[in-house]
Order: sequence, then structure tokens, then C-alpha cells
Amino acid sequence: MNSTSENHNRYTGLIARYPDRLPVKSEAQVISLGEGATPLIRLQNIPGLLESEVEIFVKYEGLNPTGSFKDRGMTVAVTAAVQTGSQSIICASTGNTSAAAAAYAARAGIVSFVIIPEGKIALGKLAQAMMHGAKVIQIEGNFDDGMRLVKQVSQEAPVTLVNSVNPNRIEGQKTAAFEIVEDLGRAPDFHCLPVGNAGNITAYWRGYQEYFNDQLTETRPTMVGYQASGAAPFVSDEMIDRPETIATAIRIGHPQSWDQAKSAKEESGGWFAPRTDDQILEVQKLLAGREGIFCEPASAVSLAGAIHDIKNGHIPSGSKVVCTLTGHGLKDPDTAISQCGEKPVTVKPELDAIKEIILRGME
Ligand code: F0G
Repeated sequence: MNSTSENHNRYTGLIARYPDRLPVKSEAQVISLGEGATPLIRLQNIPGLLESEVEIFVKYEGLNPTGSFKDRGMTVAVTAAVQTGSQSIICASTGNTSAAAAAYAARAGIVSFVIIPEGKIALGKLAQAMMHGAKVIQIEGNFDDGMRLVKQVSQEAPVTLVNSVNPNRIEGQKTAAFEIVEDLGRAPDFHCLPVGNAGNITAYWRGYQEYFNDQLTETRPTMVGYQASGAAPFVSDEMIDRPETIATAIRIGHPQSWDQAKSAKEESGGWFAPRTDDQILEVQKLLAGREGIFCEPASAVSLAGAIHDIKNGHIPSGSKVVCTLTGHGLKDPDTAISQCGEKPVTVKPELDAIKEIILRGME
């Protein structure tokens, strides 16, 4: 180490934090943007609405460098790609993976190709992929079509596939479970999260299992996966061809980590359940309005599901519940603004006009 900036690059981020738990060399070149160590925030206002003595925590993954949990897997996948001499990466994406792939490729000085469903990714995510210099390929198809294509092309062209079928992605993402246990001092009773391609539920379950192999007296959480009702193959227990939901991040009908997600559910005694788009948006707004935490629609399905299952008793009073908020609300400003009934008022730049609004607002 001969300069402060080298020290900084080497010692921040997940690979520096968990060098013995991840399959890359932390002493060689590491591609990191300081991801991980996101806050676990205890909800203060929403539990009081539920007539249940539950404690709810949210793991706010929107505070990762590119605004989603994808950065955890991407630091490991891109570091491994670079360490093995790869010059380019590719992924299919509903938006967040493409943003993370583009950013980490930019950091590494390699090329990224991202395949996205035309018109079906949130504005912020597209802006990120473009700003970070990805070669953005839109297809007249959905995420599942994109997945099929990238799996084929990475067999035939010299590009490294960085979707969560790449085991390095799951390895990186499992670290969120380590952080939760470190913060709570134990595992939660229930871990609730959105399920799309199913890499993240696979990763959390692996993380909890690995963590507690070292400390066998501890218990692991019950894993609960929530899906948007128009894109819920795990709920119907069969793949679907035309997934639809306003939560475009999880508009997926053929999840890649099918078996692993089902094992996580079964081994932990958990379940899968759906929430409608309206229910998802209502809870996205509740969380923003009552707790000051802004997540994207796909993330809100975890809390929407948890609230439902707390009210119906599937999650009993006295439980400690963690909900993963997978992405930041700023990713999808269009959906956010369109569901806010009260639009900003416009007035003359005069004191009286402002005073009148304040007095009316206090009524
Ligand atoms: N939440 C958000 C915000 C996501 O972007 C995704 C997946 C998920 C939840 C579901 O996680 O796929 O591991 O079950 N987004 C991927 C993408 C598919 O391309 O950005 P999963």
C-alpha cells in the first residue's frame, strides 16, 4: 500500500469486510464502490397501526451506491470477472442489475452490455445504465426473453454473464444476512422479501445458513417471499409466460433460481404469497409518508406482504420481522408522482400567499 487512495479502495466494501467468506482474492484488484453496510431501520409508526406487538425492521438496500441490493453481488461478480481476465460483461435486466453492472464495469474499465425489456424499466435505472456507458440493448420482449438470450450469447461470445445465475452474485448478496444478524445480535424470526428472479431469497438463505453453521445454538429465520399478483409463479407453483405488474423490477415469469428459492421456503418453514399492484403502491406510500423511507414499488411488496401476514396472524405477535427494501424510490419517479393525488400548488412569490397556505395546511 503506498497511497491513501489505494488504501481507501482496498478497505471499503463487502470484499474488504468479509474476505474469508467470499470467493475472490481480496489482496488482488478489487472492484468496489463501497457497497453494503446499509442501515437496518426499526419502523416507529407503522407497527402501531397493526394491533400486534411486532417489531418491524427494514434493511434499506436502496442506500447502496447504485441504489439497489444488486451492488452486493456485482462487486463480487465483476471483481471475479476482472481477476480472470474478462474484458466485458453482459446481463438481462428489469433495470437494477443493468444499473449495477454498468457502474461496476465503468469502475473496472471494462465494457458492459445490458438487455432490457423495451418500455418496461423505470426511468432512473435507464438513466444509470446510459450514464455509466453501458451498451443498452432494448428487446421487444420481457426479462425472461432477455435471460434466455444472455445465457445463449455468453456461451458463444467472450462476455461474462453477471446475472444471478453467476454464483458470484449470490455469494455477494448473502452478506446482507450477515449484516442483519450482526445488527440485531440474532436472526429475525421472519425475513420478508420480494421475489422476482429469486436470486436474493437464495442468497439470504445461504447467508443465514453459513452464519449459523459457526454458531449452532442460534436459530434461523422463516423466509417469506412476496410477489406481485400478476407475476407470481412461486405462488401458483408454475412458471408463467406473460407476467404483468407495475413493480417492473419483479415483472418475471420464469425465475432462474426456482429450485433454490423453493428450498429456502421449505427448509425455513416459510411461504410465498401475492400482493396486488394497488396494495403494493399503498404500502410504498405508507412507508414514505409515515416513516420517511422511500423505496421502489417492487421493494414495497415485502412490507405489504408482512403487514398482511401480521394482521392475519401468520406472523404472530411478539415476532421480530425484517423486510428487505431492495431498491430506492428515486429509481422510479414516474410511478411515485403518478400516485400522489395532491399535486404541488403554484403561487406568486409573495409572503401572504405562502402564509395563507401554511395556515390552511395546519388546519
Ligand atoms: N426488488 C428489486 C428492486 C429488484 O430489482 C429485483 C430484481 C428484485 C426485488 C427481485 O430480486 O430477482 O433476486 O428475486 N431485479 C432484477 C434486475 C431482476 O434485473 O434488476 P430477485
